[in-house]
Amino acid sequence: MPVVPANPDTIAEGARLLRGGRLVAFPTETVYGLGADATNAMAVAAIFEAKGRPRFNPLISHVADAESAFRLGTFSSMATRLALAFWPGPLTLVVPRRPSCPIADLATAGLDTVALRVPSHPVARDLLAGVARPVAAPSANRSGHVSATSAAHVEADLGDRVALILDGGPTEHGVESSVLDLSGAAPVLLRPGAVTLEEMELIIGSPLETPTARGGRPSSPGQLASHYAPGAAVRLNATEVLPGEALLAFGSPPLPHGGPCFNLSLAGDLREAAARLFSALRELDRSGAGTIAVMPIPGHGLGAAINDRLWRAAAPKGDTSVAMPS
Ligand code: TXA
Ligand code: MG
Repeated sequence: MPVVPANPDTIAEGARLLRGGRLVAFPTETVYGLGADATNAMAVAAIFEAKGRPRFNPLISHVADAESAFRLGTFSSMATRLALAFWPGPLTLVVPRRPSCPIADLATAGLDTVALRVPSHPVARDLLAGVARPVAAPSANRSGHVSATSAAHVEADLGDRVALILDGGPTEHGVESSVLDLSGAAPVLLRPGAVTLEEMELIIGSPLETPTARGGRPSSPGQLASHYAPGAAVRLNATEVLPGEALLAFGSPPLPHGGPCFNLSLAGDLREAAARLFSALRELDRSGAGTIAVMPIPGHGLGAAINDRLWRAAAPKGDTSVAMPS
């Protein structure tokens, strides 16, 4: 039975499990989170696997206090004002990541920005203080299900996939945190949530832009972030490597090739491949090859999300609205 009442002993056990790379569900003031050590790419891949999410969208990293957040991202004076006004609490700030930021590429979906939040729930705070590392945590429900607002919800959805569920009772807000992007010239509200527009505008001092107000299409959360795409062209399902191409390999043996090559997983393990995907794309991009040839990757489990991202990378530049063919 992974559900335990949250108390100092079970919270310490949760922190130990997280540091060991396991998944732990915990209450926040918004919804229950499915947590993993954000600095451990394999643990972050396990989040996507457990949720059955068909896509790698960037995740929120949770930390115990604002000082920890300031070490991970670059905060403008406005970002600092917002952090001091609303943390701990249900506001997530997207800021440029510092070069020293140890958060795994998979948790930020390869972006140069990072989403940070300091939750106010006492169980979450104690857990994060115990882990002393950023914890990536989307809502603790299977993909497509409603966000979990009680430990029983989490158990019904993910009971067999997490090492521990810390029960802290029903959550206070029941909706996710508001996500505010402070990485550009003006703040942009990426996801409305538990902190209201009016509350944020009071601190910002001017009306807030929302992506829809800017003329963008309404879009589901997670689709709004500009997605990391390599500068090189991407050629899928390669059965041979052409002269001048770099190779993104999967499994053993890789295609014969003398040029730049990155094998996502020699063992053919999809979790390892997911954990290494964004680093692989960056490294092959840096090799200067004009095209990255990608070996076929199976479509089951995490393979669906890996193929989704590669398919988007292979689509015509600038078109992030594409959906993968089914
Ligand atoms: O209330 C919450 O925020 C819950 C609880 C568990 O804390 N967590 C949650 O996490 O909803 P998650 O990871 O599912 O939220 C992801 C949201 C998406 O809308 C995503 O697009 C945005 O945060 N996001 C994350 N990183 C981003 C980035 N670098 N740039 C833009 N948006 C980002
Ligand atoms: Mg959710």
